[in-house]
Amino acid sequence: MKRLTDIAYDHTSQSLLASVRLKYRNHRLRNLAASHAQRGAKSNVAAASRKTLVAHRGASSYRPEHTLESYQLALEQGADFVEQDLQITRDGQLICLHDLSLERTTNVEDVFPTRFREQLVVGRPARRWYVSDFTLREIKQLDAGSWFDPKFKGARVPTFQEAIDLVRGKAGLYPETKAPEVYGQLGFDMERLLLDALKKNNLGTRSAGRHTPVIIQSFSAEGLRKLSSTLNTKLPLVLLINEETRTRWLRAGGLEEAKQFASGIGPAKALLDGNLVKQAHALGLSVTPYTFRLTDTGRFKTLREEMSYYLYDLGVDALFTDNPDLFPRAKIKE
Ligand code: G3P
Ligand code: CA
Repeated sequence: MKRLTDIAYDHTSQSLLASVRLKYRNHRLRNLAASHAQRGAKSNVAAASRKTLVAHRGASSYRPEHTLESYQLALEQGADFVEQDLQITRDGQLICLHDLSLERTTNVEDVFPTRFREQLVVGRPARRWYVSDFTLREIKQLDAGSWFDPKFKGARVPTFQEAIDLVRGKAGLYPETKAPEVYGQLGFDMERLLLDALKKNNLGTRSAGRHTPVIIQSFSAEGLRKLSSTLNTKLPLVLLINEETRTRWLRAGGLEEAKQFASGIGPAKALLDGNLVKQAHALGLSVTPYTFRLTDTGRFKTLREEMSYYLYDLGVDALFTDNPDLFPRAKIKE
């Protein structure tokens, strides 16, 4: 019987090799899903030792964030999960975009020059082209690549469905519900839309998504509570924590409260220390800090050193990075 190494050197066995690679990858993804499930189930935390690489907005240091081009590179760079920030169009479609509005990452100002809302931002008037004012058809006309580099001209804002089609079977999905309360005021139910989309793709349960694990993240505790209680999802839920919400979640009793509806926390990396990791793990909560990128390595000389410190010294389970290619799969020795 051939071993994997024999197969790799057999030039006549290319399709067999591809199938072995796929099997290995699926096996790895199943282990990752199991590892997150373990945290959620409060079982042996130490058992979940494999570190998880979440590609933040794709490989967004190298390609325009939240484009299929960026997601594709993240897959090629070995991401375990690819992140999607979600927004909702005027006609109720989930799209992948970080901001509530389109002007930072597309040429909406050129294509639809009059379709803005004027409002005060930090006391000064500013123009905003909100996603919720545009149909998917209109948003698909926009160039989402040139702002990053002219060579990406023509890249489009992907729908969540397009992201699923690209990523499924190759890595996990890590969707974030962005501002669900704002969309709620407009008559949209972001949590339900997300679960419907996952269900339609047969990714709505842990077992259905064996080859494509799904973890849902949000800063909205109410949104996560709703996913967990009202909508009764069994998918892992990660509560994001930033400077604004730290006083609620990182005080005495805060993590215990989060544990009622979340299986993990995703704090800004500056909020994290070894003690917080221990407290979270003691409650069975996974820890996934954000965001690690070449342009912001703080006191560390290199990004790999910084990520290594968080993963192997502080002991986080996973992290979000713009640079999937630099994720250290083992501790970096100084
Ligand atoms: O989702 C983790 C991290 O992405 C949260 O920050 O603003 O980049 O979505 P943001
Ligand atoms: Ca995000």
